[in-house]
Amino acid sequence: MCKDAIVFFNKPEGVELVAGETYQFCMCGRSADGLFCDGSHEGTGCEPKAFSVEKSKAYQLCRCKSSDNLPFCNGNHSYYADSAVGKKVISD
Ligand code: FES
Repeated sequence: MCKDAIVFFNKPEGVELVAGETYQFCMCGRSADGLFCDGSHEGTGCEPKAFSVEKSKAYQLCRCKSSDNLPFCNGNHSYYADSAVGKKVISD
């Protein structure tokens, strides 16, 4: 997790990913779709995370930016109420 990230949304999104492709996951929560890097992290302390998958299928990608298994959702979004969207992530 990036401590300068903001909560893009408090639920994950199912995204079809293709095996072998390299994706740049948005770690800052400021990209237009909250999923993939579009350069919006400029000036934050966050950098995108490159990842790929071994199997082509739909994956639940984290949009709260607080999963312990980024880029994948692990349920940590349950810590965030709707009012937390757009605010800084809880970091310990
Ligand atoms: S959306 Fe971040 S843990 Fe589920």
